[in-house]
Amino acid sequence: MIRIRELYYRYEDGTEALQNVNIDMDRGKIVGVIGANGSGKSTLFLNIMGILKPTKGSIEYKDRPIEYTKRYLREYRKNVNIVFQNPEQQIFYSNVYDDIAFSLRNIGIDEKHVREKVMWALEQVDCLDLIDKPVHFLSYGQKKRIAIAGVLVMDSKVLLMDEPTSGLDPHMTKEIKDIILKISKDKNILISSHDMDLIYEICDYIYILNKGSVICQGEPQDVFLDGELLEQANLVKPWLVKIYENLHTPLFKDEEEFNSFSGKGII
Ligand SMILES: Nc1ncnc2c1ncn2[C@@H]1O[C@H](COP(=O)(O)OP(=O)(O)OP(=O)(O)O)[C@@H](O)[C@H]1O
Ligand SMILES: [Mg+2]
Repeated sequence: MIRIRELYYRYEDGTEALQNVNIDMDRGKIVGVIGANGSGKSTLFLNIMGILKPTKGSIEYKDRPIEYTKRYLREYRKNVNIVFQNPEQQIFYSNVYDDIAFSLRNIGIDEKHVREKVMWALEQVDCLDLIDKPVHFLSYGQKKRIAIAGVLVMDSKVLLMDEPTSGLDPHMTKEIKDIILKISKDKNILISSHDMDLIYEICDYIYILNKGSVICQGEPQDVFLDGELLEQANLVKPWLVKIYENLHTPLFKDEEEFNSFSGKGII
C-alpha cells in the first residue's frame, strides 16, 4: 500500500538524514526498520506521514505519489496513522479520556460509541484505571501506552509505530507485542525499534538503515545471521539467533516455539 521511492531528506542545517531510501510495505504485514541512533528512522516516518516533505523522491500510497495539500493529507491521515517516538508529540488534551476521544469526536462519532471505543482501547493497553487522570501526571510509560490507545481507536489501514515499546517495562512490552500481532491481521504496520528480540519475532521483513541509507533488507531469519553487517550498523543479534549459533538449537522464530521445543526436554 505504501512504497517509498528514492527518498532523500536534508534538514535545514544541511544534515543529510536520508539518502536514496527504497521501502515497500507490501513485503509483509509487519515490516521493521532498524538502525542505530541517528540513522534516520524517525525522519523516514515523518516523511511517510507527509509531515516532512522529501528533498527528492516520493512516498507512494496506492500506487500514486502523496500530495502535500491540506485536503489530501487530511484524507490520507485517516488511512495512515502514526505512534510517534515521543508521546508528548501525540498527546494534546489535558485528561486521558478527552485525549483518546478527540479523534473520534472529530469524525462525528456519537458520545456513547466514543466512550465504548475509548474504554476498549484503554483496556487493550492496561490503562483503564487512568481514564480520568490528567495527562501531566502520567509516567513516561503510561503516556506511551495512552498514545498507542489513541491510534487503536482509529480504523487506519496503515500504522507506523516509531519505537512503540521504548520506556515500557518487560510485561508491557510483551502486551504491546501481542497487540501489534493482533492488529496486524487487518492493518499494515511499519515499526522501528531498538529491541532486536521484538523486531526478530514480529516482523515479516526488515530494512536496516545505516547513516540514512538502507544497507540490507530481507526476512529476519536471514538478515540477523549476518554478523558483519549488524556490526557495521551497530546492532546486536536477537537472543534466539544467539542460541541458534552458540548452542546449535534450531532457529526458532519466537519464544513460544522455543518453549514448546525445550518443554520436550530436547534442550
Ligand atoms: N530537526 C532537525 N534538524 C536537523 N537535524 C535533524 C533534525 N532532526 C533530526 N536530525 C538529524 O537527522 C539524523 C536522523 O535523525 P532521526 O531522528 O531520524 O534518527 P533515528 O534513527 O530516529 O534515531 P533514534 O534511534 O535516536 O530515534 C540525525 O543525524 C539527527 O541529528
Ligand atoms: Mg527516532
